[in-house]
Amino acid sequence: MDKQAKPFLQECGPMILDALIKIKDEVDATLTFRRSCREGICGSCAMNINGKNGLANTRLSSKPIEIQPLPHTYVVKDLVPDLTNFYNQYKSIEPWLKRKDVKSKDDKEYFQSREDRAKLDGMYECILCACCMTSCPSYWWNPEYYLTTWVLRC
Ligand code: FES
Repeated sequence: MDKQAKPFLQECGPMILDALIKIKDEVDATLTFRRSCREGICGSCAMNINGKNGLANTRLSSKPIEIQPLPHTYVVKDLVPDLTNFYNQYKSIEPWLKRKDVKSKDDKEYFQSREDRAKLDGMYECILCACCMTSCPSYWWNPEYYLTTWVLRC
């Protein structure tokens, strides 16, 4: 590609993620970023977009955008942050359900009623994208010790 050429508009899909994929496919195959579901479910595509953390599978605007990796993380490559600390903190509080009785009656599945499942609403919607943690000043100052809202909520 001619490095002296002026910027120009190209068509791609409607999301920031589509633009990144187009750049990777057609301009720079070494560009590295995470993505999986393209639906806002997995949290993989979290990055800093125009100074705010968010998911890259949001709509592109017609204005120029600046994209950086999630702030205050070590960067593995390009837009891929090292989330080791994030996952270690998550694991440290064991945010999963634990039964008082260890085994089910038939040693197979634990069935859950709709009523029991409804008790969990509002507690399990976090997609673990790390946007909140990496945008929190309290985390910036003490990343080893600060458990963010998603951790405290569980
Ligand atoms: S790719 Fe899964 S949330 Fe963006």
